Amino acid sequence: MTTQGDNSSMLRRSLLGALPAMAALAACRSGASGTAAVPGPGTADSTAQGASRQVPARQAGVDLPVQPQGHVLLSVYGLPARAGLAPAVARVGEVLLEALGVLRKEAEAADLTVTVGLGPRVAALAGRGVPGGLELPAFAREERSDRTWGGDLMVQVCGRDAAAVVLADERLGETVAAEGASRRWSQAGFRLPGNGPVRNLLGFPDGIENPRTRSELDREVWLDGPGPFAGGTVAVVRRLRVDVPGFLAQSPVRQEEVIGRRKGDGAPLSGGGPSGRLDLSAKSARGRYLVPAMAHARRANPNATGSGRMLRRGYDYRNGPDDQGLLFVSFQRRLRTFTATQRRLDEGDDLMRFVTATASGAFYVPPAFTPERPLGAELLGERS
Ligand code: HEM
Repeated sequence: MTTQGDNSSMLRRSLLGALPAMAALAACRSGASGTAAVPGPGTADSTAQGASRQVPARQAGVDLPVQPQGHVLLSVYGLPARAGLAPAVARVGEVLLEALGVLRKEAEAADLTVTVGLGPRVAALAGRGVPGGLELPAFAREERSDRTWGGDLMVQVCGRDAAAVVLADERLGETVAAEGASRRWSQAGFRLPGNGPVRNLLGFPDGIENPRTRSELDREVWLDGPGPFAGGTVAVVRRLRVDVPGFLAQSPVRQEEVIGRRKGDGAPLSGGGPSGRLDLSAKSARGRYLVPAMAHARRANPNATGSGRMLRRGYDYRNGPDDQGLLFVSFQRRLRTFTATQRRLDEGDDLMRFVTATASGAFYVPPAFTPERPLGAELLGERS
């Protein structure tokens, strides 16, 4: 079940009508948090780099806020056929800007961020070479459907408050639908509160090994200049259904072997503290790897293939007992970082036996867009 179509249009209309009032209320109660929503400067250092270096601002919802908000609604849309595609992107960019302007107060009060990505068909308008501008190849254990695979426009709304996230997604969805975008799929997700890595549905701390420092994020996640894509990044989103009961039926020791880290505190099985890196060469006295050969954290580790690191910023989702798992979201500079990692997992990873992908897409995430620098201008040839 997806979130789409769950609300009656009557309910939707009344909720949308209530939005400005709620936004004002929320703003009074909590004050502005300072989390930037799109459009506008996405990161502190985009202003620091400032006008002198002409580095475009980055979108929020990628590495900021540092601690991801508690709720997400991620929606993927299709846009009209090729002939009408470029004007549709330009128009969608304009109406998104308007709608985001209306949502700005709400954004500040409820830590709302909106992150927009453009799919391979849109990237192709610029010819080849757009980062993330290719469809993902086929991987193992996928349940593909036309509706949930690929897509032209990704809108990720994150926020502290589930209702505010739903309302913002509804408003943005109606806005882009009026320009011919059709919603293909959407998925709500949540994460437990807490600082740093939080437990996923399997009970393991998740998000431990991620680029974190400014220089790591600049090197692994953000595209830099000179060039039209500076300030952008590449997003991969996959809804991964997990056989949670099947996983939890394994003994606690086996569960830890499947992940490669301890369930209690996330510490690597090779020793060290909870935030420690895996020692992939560490062996027991009997010569066995302490982090087993098919443990997920070992197989996903980039050392083996030098595929680069990704920023994983996924959410748990639960549509019911038979459809729950991870709404996987990763940001990286190159699509290859994801594809090389997923291939390694396909070749052998004890966790993947419990996992099936039911929705998937890759998107180029442009720099923050503004009236002066419209959405996808670098792809459509209207350079600002
Ligand atoms: C439902 C599926 C998945 C679950 C439940 C899951 C869970 C985890 C957990 C618990 C960890 C160890 C803690 C941490 O470092 O965050 C981890 C590590 C990691 N996962 Fe996943 N993961 C899933 C799928 C994926 C996929 C599809 C990819 C990428 C293709 C991926 C990439 C990584 C990476 C890069 C690491 C860090 C490895 C290292 O230590 O260098 N994961 N994951």
